[in-house]
Amino acid sequence: MNTQHQWEKSLQRRVRRHIKAARHTFFAIVQPGFEETALGELQNLGVDDIVHTHQGGITFRGKVEDCYRVNLCSRVITRVLLRIDRFKAFHFNQVYKRMRNIPWELYLPASEVPDFKVSSSASKLFHTGRVEEEAAKAIGERLSEVYGSARKVNPEHPYAQSVYIRLEKNTCTISLDSTGDPLYKRGYKKYITGAPLRETTAAALLMEGGLAEAEMLVDPMCGSGTFSMEGAMMLCGRLPGEKREFPFFHWPVFSRAAYNYLSRDMGKCSEQISTKIICSDLDQEAIDIAGKNILSAEIEGVVSISRRDFLSEPLRDLPRYRVLCVLNPPYGKRLLEDGAVERMYEKIGVVLREWYPGWGFVLLCPDEKYLKATGLEFQKKIPFSHGGLEVTAVVR
Ligand SMILES: C[S@@+](CC[C@H](N)C(=O)[O-])C[C@H]1O[C@@H](n2cnc3c(N)ncnc32)[C@H](O)[C@@H]1O
Repeated sequence: MNTQHQWEKSLQRRVRRHIKAARHTFFAIVQPGFEETALGELQNLGVDDIVHTHQGGITFRGKVEDCYRVNLCSRVITRVLLRIDRFKAFHFNQVYKRMRNIPWELYLPASEVPDFKVSSSASKLFHTGRVEEEAAKAIGERLSEVYGSARKVNPEHPYAQSVYIRLEKNTCTISLDSTGDPLYKRGYKKYITGAPLRETTAAALLMEGGLAEAEMLVDPMCGSGTFSMEGAMMLCGRLPGEKREFPFFHWPVFSRAAYNYLSRDMGKCSEQISTKIICSDLDQEAIDIAGKNILSAEIEGVVSISRRDFLSEPLRDLPRYRVLCVLNPPYGKRLLEDGAVERMYEKIGVVLREWYPGWGFVLLCPDEKYLKATGLEFQKKIPFSHGGLEVTAVVR
């Protein structure tokens, strides 16, 4: 056996031992407000070692396959970071030295030049550009030392691999991003109108609203169709990450065959669902856009779409119970002036109370006074931020 071959075998053994067989700490980033929903979802996905639920994220432990599974299957989580190191840092040289000693060859392919996402708060090292320089130097030197002349760097970034460096109160946390584009970029929403929800937010609200127990999903102010598409994907069992590329595809530990197996195993998908999905909007442009998105998501067989005014035309011949109605009305100043928004919420209250008293609903609202105007009773309130506005989703 020649030396190069022996060296590669030894690297593969180290990757198997220290990355594949080992348990790691991961941080799942979650939109604040939906931590409990994400926790339930993680547990359903078989992640059983939850370390801590924080505002905006969940720390869990698991193997790299758990990280792959969460990226491929989670509908609520935004991003998964693999924690690599944590240490106190008061001088730039400490960042350099510590990062120089991390075995990057176990995490990154030889050709990789990662980009850096550096943040600093309440720390002596506040010059994030300098932290990035030290980190880039340390990783570059480590990989060049390990691979020698075999290291062929592709400066054009063949794929987006980020290293996250967070300094908080002089504690430096180094993580490797496993996700790339945030997970709400599923890849099927090609066109948008109004103020569309993130797919992760829509999915979390559908879970909170009890879609799994509903016989029908009504999305009567559909805009770009996010609720209907997420609902259809959930009910059909389609994996939200099925069409995506992830940075971990390029990690030395990654096996395409094992990933394909995981994807087949998790993606037991059905074209036939018993829950009906009724998607509509007042605006013809929204209907055209939602229609194109529904086609692009390949769920046209399970969503019926039409133009109608939810507030003046009652929907006839629908079940009285076990219906989930999801409403994200237009409310930003950009969309409607204030008095009109309040009148619209009053009307929504009348419609839900008088025409559909047995329906469950999820209603988004930017202001307590509009909620009062609806006169509705609800079981749960979830405050979160949407498009820079603080909103509350109420659930019944
Ligand atoms: C904020 S957008 C919904 C965005 C949507 N959740 C998404 O993710 O794309 C609000 C939508 O409500 C629709 N709308 C407003 N009044 C309506 C009414 N009376 N009946 C039906 N749709 C209405 C608007 O045309 C607009 O498309």
